[in-house]
Amino acid sequence: MNGNTDYGSRITDHSAVPVLAIDGPSGSGKGTVGLLLAARLGWHFLDSGALYRALGYAAHRAHIALNDAAVLAGLAREMDIRFLLQDGASVKVLLDGAEVGEVLRTEESGKYASQVASILEVRRELLQKQRDFRRLPGLVADGRDMGTVVFPDASLKIFLTASPELRAERRYKQLKEKGFDANLPRLLGEIRERDARDSARAASPLKPAADAQILDTSALSISEVVDRIYSVLAARLSQ
Ligand code: C5P
Repeated sequence: MNGNTDYGSRITDHSAVPVLAIDGPSGSGKGTVGLLLAARLGWHFLDSGALYRALGYAAHRAHIALNDAAVLAGLAREMDIRFLLQDGASVKVLLDGAEVGEVLRTEESGKYASQVASILEVRRELLQKQRDFRRLPGLVADGRDMGTVVFPDASLKIFLTASPELRAERRYKQLKEKGFDANLPRLLGEIRERDARDSARAASPLKPAADAQILDTSALSISEVVDRIYSVLAARLSQ
């Protein structure tokens, strides 16, 4: 199994709908950048990490072992998850009707997400759910395998990177701003651990698509990253 595996679902149905795929590790800025680009373009937005986070959280809450492939795949199939775009800058996440956005952002939920995300049966269940987000006028999709597996025919594929130290710092500030308790050395350790698990897994590992443009965000502000991607996309779509 490699990162470019298609699980056999249809991808041609929506091929007329442009997709901007933004992949990268935790804290690379893809969520913030993706949401801003979606607002600027007037496109839909898919935070695929939130699907894995919601599943990990739901499984933990129901005392399901995070390596039980069959039960987790069933939970993924039945999970009722909705994203409500608030004001172009944030998304409300509803899991079985209850708001879970805040709890899903914690490092603990990230860890559960990365555990359930390594299971092939789970990824297979979530594949079509993700492709269903592809609707006119376009979709900005962020995650780990948007360009490699979920939308291999995306109009533009971006892979964002930044050093683990910087990503941990960004996450630290984000958590503090939201009033969560955070510890920088521990966050760095967790980010390294999650990077290692996401990159080493057999099913859709974290890696840039062969045709992705790699953008190191270490020395760039959010608006610089947004502007850069926007111009490349505009040029690509006008070709
Ligand atoms: O992007 P975010 O940090 O919210 O993702 C949480 C976890 O979900 C990641 O560490 C990864 O294991 C998993 N994930 C994935 N494929 C995606 C998006 C997220 O495996 N497309």
